[in-house]
Amino acid sequence: MQPPSACPCRGGIPWQRILLAVSLLTFWYPHPTALLTIEPVPFDAAEGRDVLLLVHNVSENAIGYNWFKGNTANNSFKIISYLVSSQMTTPGPAFNGGEKIYSNGSLLLQKVTQNDTGFYTLQTVTADAIVELATGEFFVHEKLPKPNITINNSQPMEGEDSLALTCEPEINYGSYLWKINNQMIPDGDRLKLNDTGPYECETQNPVSANRSDPLTLNISYGPDAPIIKPPDSHFRPGTNLNLSCHADSNPPAQYSWSFNGRLLESTQQLSVPNLSTNNSGSYVCVAHNSVTNFNRTTTKNITVSGLVAQPSLRATNTEPHSVAMTCLSDDPGISITWIFNSQTLQLTDRMQLSPDHRTLSIDPVRQEDAGEYQCEASNPASSTRSDRYRLAVIYGPDAPIIKPPDSHFRPGTNLNLSCHADSNPPAQYSWSFNGRLLESTQQLSVPNLSTNNSGSYVCVAHNSVTNFNRTTTKNITVSAEERTPGLPVGAVAGIVTGVLVGVALVAALGCFLLHTRTGRYPGFPHLIPPR
Ligand SMILES: *[C@@H]1O[C@H](CO)[C@@H](O)[C@H](O)[C@H]1NC(C)=O
Ligand SMILES: *[C@@H]1O[C@H](CO)[C@@H](O)[C@H](O)[C@H]1NC(C)=O
Ligand SMILES: *[C@@H]1O[C@H](CO)[C@@H](O)[C@H](O)[C@H]1NC(C)=O
Ligand SMILES: *[C@@H]1O[C@H](CO)[C@@H](O)[C@H](O)[C@H]1NC(C)=O
Ligand SMILES: *[C@@H]1O[C@H](CO)[C@@H](O)[C@H](O)[C@H]1NC(C)=O
Ligand SMILES: *[C@@H]1O[C@H](CO)[C@@H](O)[C@H](O)[C@H]1NC(C)=O
Ligand SMILES: *[C@@H]1O[C@H](CO)[C@@H](O)[C@H](O)[C@H]1NC(C)=O
Ligand SMILES: *[C@@H]1O[C@H](CO)[C@@H](O)[C@H](O)[C@H]1NC(C)=O
Ligand SMILES: *[C@@H]1O[C@H](CO)[C@@H](O)[C@H](O)[C@H]1NC(C)=O
Ligand SMILES: *[C@@H]1O[C@H](CO)[C@@H](O)[C@H](O)[C@H]1NC(C)=O
Ligand SMILES: *[C@@H]1O[C@H](CO)[C@@H](O)[C@H](O)[C@H]1NC(C)=O
Ligand SMILES: *[C@@H]1O[C@H](CO)[C@@H](O)[C@H](O)[C@H]1NC(C)=O
Repeated sequence: MQPPSACPCRGGIPWQRILLAVSLLTFWYPHPTALLTIEPVPFDAAEGRDVLLLVHNVSENAIGYNWFKGNTANNSFKIISYLVSSQMTTPGPAFNGGEKIYSNGSLLLQKVTQNDTGFYTLQTVTADAIVELATGEFFVHEKLPKPNITINNSQPMEGEDSLALTCEPEINYGSYLWKINNQMIPDGDRLKLNDTGPYECETQNPVSANRSDPLTLNISYGPDAPIIKPPDSHFRPGTNLNLSCHADSNPPAQYSWSFNGRLLESTQQLSVPNLSTNNSGSYVCVAHNSVTNFNRTTTKNITVSGLVAQPSLRATNTEPHSVAMTCLSDDPGISITWIFNSQTLQLTDRMQLSPDHRTLSIDPVRQEDAGEYQCEASNPASSTRSDRYRLAVIYGPDAPIIKPPDSHFRPGTNLNLSCHADSNPPAQYSWSFNGRLLESTQQLSVPNLSTNNSGSYVCVAHNSVTNFNRTTTKNITVSAEERTPGLPVGAVAGIVTGVLVGVALVAALGCFLLHTRTGRYPGFPHLIPPR
């Protein structure tokens, strides 16, 4: 705020009545002992109030005063004249009727209006024709009305629109102050549209302040992605389905439901009583905002199912060296897992699951795959396993091993040979000596050896399922001499009738499948009767 401005001047404008005297006098400026000044009280005045223009340091021998509107003593704007001797006042062209002059020169302006704002000049004249001028100034301010906030878009959209908030009315000589949530808004800050307010604007001038009602913006947004409740997605037949959809949105969203692409209802809640498996499928909730004109959807897949029926396991060997097991179930919406020896099956690189996990293929089958297989069918309500199927792997016989390794015996001792060949089912053994069948046993005993017992002892191992024979020959020397160095300890005969590995899947029903692993024996039977 400026200090009261006073512009003391001296000028040669003579007092009208002593014009002659002035013209006769030499034009001079006395050294003033005191400066004529005008002090407006108050400097900032409210409309309708009185303002007193106090005059200071008036010359003691002043004989008259002239008041003018403006900062010069222009007679066209004279307000009033006062003659001290007669206390006579004379209104000028600028007289409004509300002005009052005191004997000490001070001027009272009553019930000022904004038009009274401005400069006022006092001219004094002394008896010795000294003319002094002083100018003062004051402001008349309106009493501020309650402002209001106007907005240039009554339905702004989030992220879309810019808004202009205007504080009305426009005021002279004042300032505006904006608040959001009772916080001052720094000048020049851009507001984000999520700032819904409330907004207030305050107008201020030196004599008053007023404040608008708070304004809260109604910003349209959404809909957000709808949320469907409850979260459950599995229901039992015979129960009721009650789904509720909600999406954040302004104005509130309109909802509709569809099932497997077919419109059901235009409601926020969806009720389907007495569910059956036919009610399984995709339920879609659409949320629509009528102002933003956006739609958002959420899909919920619902399964209606009871307890899972026990699946059955069927096995086939499509190729001689592979097996395929299939889990059979009519239940919809089930998932299949595989169990091996009562544990979750660890898939190897020889195993393959069909995309729906219903078929397990093993190619090629190996000995370690032998064991009990089950499949397990699960839905959200329950899970159940098939009966156990035993996968047996048929192999062998491997080349027999004859023990002990010794090949040199002294006459009169006993020969006890034992033969073993890895085989499933276990091998049947027989012995021959120099081409002549001796015994069909695993052990061979020849008591009280003589040199006649020297020769080739052959063990034959026979697998009754694969129907293959493997033999090992051991040359035995019976002599009183020390064993000749370099003589072989034992030898495997070359009469190998076959190497075979096969597979049998033994079902609970009692039949099993069989095949070779090597495929070197095309005549090998694939399916053999129950054992
Ligand atoms: C009157 O004049 C004297 C001398 O110039 C000055 O010191 C004083 O401040 C003045 N009084 C007012 C009220 O202006
Ligand atoms: C006084 O004011 C009138 C009207 O504005 C103007 O015409 C005139 O020139 C002024 N006189 C002086 C001496 O400034
Ligand atoms: C002049 O007279 C008025 C009215 O009596 C009074 O209010 C005011 O204080 C006086 N001015 C001075 C400077 O004494
Ligand atoms: C202020 O002045 C204007 C223009 O001279 C006039 O139209 C208006 O009526 C005046 N206001 C008052 C309150 O005298
Ligand atoms: C604000 O203005 C209204 C009229 O527009 C008035 O009634 C109220 O008294 C004013 N408030 C203030 C604090 O000046
Ligand atoms: C509102 O005012 C803002 C800022 O000036 C402008 O960007 C926007 O286009 C205006 N909106 C309307 C509907 O006039
Ligand atoms: C807001 O104020 C302006 C001017 O004061 C007025 O014309 C307008 O009708 C007011 N609007 C409301 C909504 O109060
Ligand atoms: C408005 O959005 C800004 C970021 O865009 C965020 O920091 C602020 O918290 C939001 N204000 C409200 C009231 O949500
Ligand atoms: C949005 O949903 C409303 C009501 O569900 C529908 O009338 C309108 O066609 C949909 N609009 C679009 C673009 O999908
Ligand atoms: C719902 O089911 C459909 C068709 O079966 C499928 O395309 C979609 O991915 C499923 N959605 C969910 C969320 O599971
Ligand atoms: C295999 O051995 C069994 C019993 O020892 C015999 O009956 C059969 O003839 C043999 N087969 C071959 C191909 O040698
Ligand atoms: C065993 O004896 C036979 C006949 O003398 C001979 O042909 C064969 O090579 C011998 N085998 C071994 C492993 O020494």
